[in-house]
Amino acid sequence: MATAVWVIFLQVIVIGLACTRASEESLVSRIAFGSCANQSAPQPIWNTINEFDPQLFIWLGDNIYGDTRLPFKIFGKERTIGPWKNAPRFIPVSEEELQSRYKTAKNNPGYTRLREKIQVIGTWDDHDYGLNDAGKEFSGKNISQRLLLDFLDEPQDSPRRKQAGVYASYTLGPKDKQVKVILLDTRYHRDPLFSDGCILGSSQWSWLEKELNGPKSALTIIGSSIQVISNLSATTGPLFYLESWGRFPKERDRLLKLISDSRRDAVLFISGDVHFGEVTRHDCALCYPLYDITSSGLTQAVEKAVPSSLHFLVRVVAWLTPTTMRVINPNCRYRSCTYGQPNFGAIEIDWGANPVTLKVEVRDVNGDPVIGANISLSELQTMNTNHVSALKTGEIRQHCSLEVNLPWVIRHHLAFLFFVALAFFLLALVFLFHAAASVGGHFLCKCKLD
Ligand SMILES: *[C@@H]1O[C@H](CO)[C@@H](O)[C@H](O)[C@H]1NC(C)=O
Ligand SMILES: *[C@@H]1O[C@H](CO)[C@@H](O)[C@H](O)[C@H]1NC(C)=O
Ligand SMILES: *[C@@H]1O[C@H](CO)[C@@H](O)[C@H](O)[C@H]1NC(C)=O
Ligand SMILES: *[C@@H]1O[C@H](CO)[C@@H](O)[C@H](O)[C@H]1NC(C)=O
Repeated sequence: MATAVWVIFLQVIVIGLACTRASEESLVSRIAFGSCANQSAPQPIWNTINEFDPQLFIWLGDNIYGDTRLPFKIFGKERTIGPWKNAPRFIPVSEEELQSRYKTAKNNPGYTRLREKIQVIGTWDDHDYGLNDAGKEFSGKNISQRLLLDFLDEPQDSPRRKQAGVYASYTLGPKDKQVKVILLDTRYHRDPLFSDGCILGSSQWSWLEKELNGPKSALTIIGSSIQVISNLSATTGPLFYLESWGRFPKERDRLLKLISDSRRDAVLFISGDVHFGEVTRHDCALCYPLYDITSSGLTQAVEKAVPSSLHFLVRVVAWLTPTTMRVINPNCRYRSCTYGQPNFGAIEIDWGANPVTLKVEVRDVNGDPVIGANISLSELQTMNTNHVSALKTGEIRQHCSLEVNLPWVIRHHLAFLFFVALAFFLLALVFLFHAAASVGGHFLCKCKLD
């Protein structure tokens, strides 16, 4: 009898110790995330991410490039660009090809080291879903879903394999220091662009409502492949448009209202897709500032699309593009506070600080921060009375008005600049032709005279 009591006593101690250790170990204080990784290109950034030593990595889409991009063709039989375009620029690939591209991505040595060490979770965007800018109409979506979940090592019996779409949520860390990660699916149910229709679809909306109204967490990170707060299209259109929640204004309002109504503290967004890094915040959606940290891409980045002698031009354009939500501070590497080279997102939580602080950053391929913000968790509370009263008195103006509400001269100044530059270019061309013609004419006359 006495031995039995001893055994039980010892067991209780052992289990007790194991539990405390488990919860201590699972405190989440370093998270990395990223998007837009070309599986066929070198991916040196994994070494940097491994050095950052995160406890969790989050894929935000375009985890592989699963569609085939045809070259730009203005002339010829198959024209992929311009108003006279008659052929698609992107075409889906076969299931076998998609699977093989995922295999290449999964076997990248740097990525393999990371996923063998820590938990890796994720959602998708258009190119890994199977087709550029695709939504609910895409016929290969169930196959793509299976292949993404295989890539992420989702268990075979997981309900996530049976639902329509890849949305999911995770709660990590010990009680009172929990981090909840909600990953949205912005593809499976999305209506066509320019429809102002649905992004999430009704089943995902009711799921999200439950998740937001469920048990509290110290921090809630919502991962969306496309940007939520920034609506750059409002200032880059009609030159070009980017995908974002802003392109679906009704759906965006619904999302912001749902978060606001849930009265959940410390919600922030992370996003990808655009091939540059940016931190934005919206100060008038909730009782506290709502951040969106965009990191894009792990390999794909806007500056890589142009020769290095033109990188400065990309930076000037980024700096000239009007924005109302971007967080601009002197710590950014470039004045625009965007970053167009390969990058990843880093979130560090100092649980020991009082109040708890968050450091959110976009980091370059050397691991150095290029954009960032330090946020106190106490700021991100629905009881943030300072913020609420500043909202009431109208003191808060920055990061509050939408890009579409900018005065039109400012809003469209990128387009003006473009057309003015184009006009100068054409004029110069006309002038040159004229000069060449008159010189040529001169020669002709001279020849005749001779
Ligand atoms: C991916 O990288 C390969 C090899 O560098 C290149 O041929 C291909 O065009 C790239 N794809 C994209 C979508 O950038
Ligand atoms: C795709 O999967 C969903 C649910 O997982 C199912 O309802 C639907 O019928 C499937 N579609 C096709 C074309 O198999
Ligand atoms: C975002 O910009 C687009 C393009 O100008 C516009 O149609 C849309 O209404 C904007 N959305 C928001 C939320 O301002
Ligand atoms: C955040 O705080 C750290 C010190 O902890 C500082 O080095 C860094 O520059 C700050 N970043 C920003 C963007 O303010």
